Amino acid sequence: MLERSLDTPEMRRLRRKVLAPARGHVLDVGVGSGMSLDAYPPTVTRITGLDRLPANDLLQQRAAALDIPFEYIQSSAEEIPCEDNTFDTVSCQLVLCTVPDIKKALREIHRVLQKDGVLLFMEHVLAEKAWIRAGQHLLTPLQRVVSCGCRLNRDTAAYIEEAGFHIEKPERQIFPGYRFAGEILIHGCATPTS
Ligand SMILES: C[S@@+](CC[C@H](N)C(=O)[O-])C[C@H]1O[C@@H](n2cnc3c(N)ncnc32)[C@H](O)[C@@H]1O
Repeated sequence: MLERSLDTPEMRRLRRKVLAPARGHVLDVGVGSGMSLDAYPPTVTRITGLDRLPANDLLQQRAAALDIPFEYIQSSAEEIPCEDNTFDTVSCQLVLCTVPDIKKALREIHRVLQKDGVLLFMEHVLAEKAWIRAGQHLLTPLQRVVSCGCRLNRDTAAYIEEAGFHIEKPERQIFPGYRFAGEILIHGCATPTS
């Protein structure tokens, strides 16, 4: 189901746009089936995929097709088993909605990212319009059950800033395939402020 809704031509274009500033050693948090792997630009030299689940077949196929080194870490984003300042880029694509402790995960991301590194994110978030927000609050308990803990009503950009990042020109837009929900997709590049 995820592949069908998140691996569309529109989503692939969007992933390439969001990931265009990626460089050096990338940590892809919640890498899943690796839908972002072929969207990284040639400035990326190595990718570490992290997910709480074991590596699946699709991920292994996509990783094998890369011409840069790829390694996999099975771990939660709340406890990243890497040294401080390891990565040039951290990528969060549609994962922060699901992470149980988002504050802890963002503290970990901040810790493992180099001080001049970038956090590239694309997440669905709490809507700006009150009536859509009301629907998101209402549907979140059900969504959490049917979609592995995914919350529709997270104000993820606020959490990113609270964790010590500055978001340069965040962009809001329609989530392809979920037009009825309005501009609930936010993406951008965040840099550490501390
Ligand atoms: C909706 S999928 C997105 C996958 C991929 N990033 C993409 O854009 O297609 C969310 C992924 O995040 C992973 N995930 C959820 N919570 C996590 C956590 N706390 N730590 C690590 N991975 C997590 C899930 O296992 C799943 O693979």
